Amino acid sequence: MAQLNQPLTIKSVTFKNRIGMPPMCQYSAIDGFANDWHYVHYGTRAVGGAALIIVEATAVVPEGRITPFDLGIWNDDQIAELQRIATFIHEQGSVAGIQLAHAGRKASHDSPAKGGKQLTISEGGWVTVAPSTIPFDAAEIAPVELDKAGIQSVINEFRAATLRSKTAGFKVIEIHGAHGYLIHQFLSPLSNTRTDEYGGSFENRIRLLKEIILATQTVWPADLPLLVRLSATDWAEGGWNLEETVKLCAILKEMGVDLIDCSSGGNIVTAKMSVGPGYQIPFSEAIRQTGIKTATVGLITTADQISEILENDKADLVLLGRELLRNPYFPLKTIDGINWPTQYLRAK
Ligand SMILES: Cc1cc2nc3c(=O)[nH]c(=O)nc-3n(C[C@H](O)[C@H](O)[C@H](O)COP(=O)(O)O)c2cc1C
Repeated sequence: MAQLNQPLTIKSVTFKNRIGMPPMCQYSAIDGFANDWHYVHYGTRAVGGAALIIVEATAVVPEGRITPFDLGIWNDDQIAELQRIATFIHEQGSVAGIQLAHAGRKASHDSPAKGGKQLTISEGGWVTVAPSTIPFDAAEIAPVELDKAGIQSVINEFRAATLRSKTAGFKVIEIHGAHGYLIHQFLSPLSNTRTDEYGGSFENRIRLLKEIILATQTVWPADLPLLVRLSATDWAEGGWNLEETVKLCAILKEMGVDLIDCSSGGNIVTAKMSVGPGYQIPFSEAIRQTGIKTATVGLITTADQISEILENDKADLVLLGRELLRNPYFPLKTIDGINWPTQYLRAK
């Protein structure tokens, strides 16, 4: 049984409490470069006392961006601004993580604030890639099917992005295998109808994720945590489901993945999700049965909810998304005995 204020150590990294911030796209980058918005946004949450700050989905290649405004880590010039953010987060006693992502068929869209529709080439979009030529939404332009060389490039791009994350000083990487983006597209039989060794059986559909993890492990320090975010279910008949997720997580544990960030959905436009407070906690509980550590996320907004999760061993970390957007100081106000920044002591 863990307490909110209890540290958690994974490999050489200690998280000072059990609250983290999950990755949340800011759609505020130009050409993938982080800027002052990201510095202040992430820095504020670190000042606010979260133990782990996972920087938003950061594209390993330009065509892997959801929108033209996503962060990127496909070239060395992008490292410096990310390093500035990671350094500040660490100076506040928090841990800086980064989510490495490829959006696959869900790439080339406008930002949600501008309507989020698919962008054609003439509108500034680009050709998208996926396991199969099945669009996310039937009304959208279909993606191009990745061939073997294309799959190998994706693996190499994740490895290069991991090395850049290390250079930038991040202490955690999270591979984005959730929300209907490229890796999840491979996992789900509804988006992957390939007949080669990357499609069909469970073993084939999980192959890309396994190969990406193996590639990242060749450059990511063995003493730093490696996280994977998964959608535990497609919420759709015949899709990726909790049973397959649990089976996969047992394999990922053996491979040396340290923690599963348990989310759901995002791959099927017609999915019927059942959403309410803490709705994804049962996924974390089920995955944790494999012995791997988990983070839970999704409509968690109160200290009572967090305590209930920790006291009943339903997760090792609790991630607060929109609550930390509304209230970056939630951990400072909620966690007994937390160290306040000296600059703010008079406000305690
Ligand atoms: C503005 C916004 C951007 C998001 N961007 C990402 C992202 O980059 N990567 C990701 O895996 N999830 C993303 N998510 C999902 C969140 O990480 C989180 O799982 C979700 O918001 C549920 O948690 P909450 O109810 O505490 O907000 C985003 C959510 C929001 C609200």
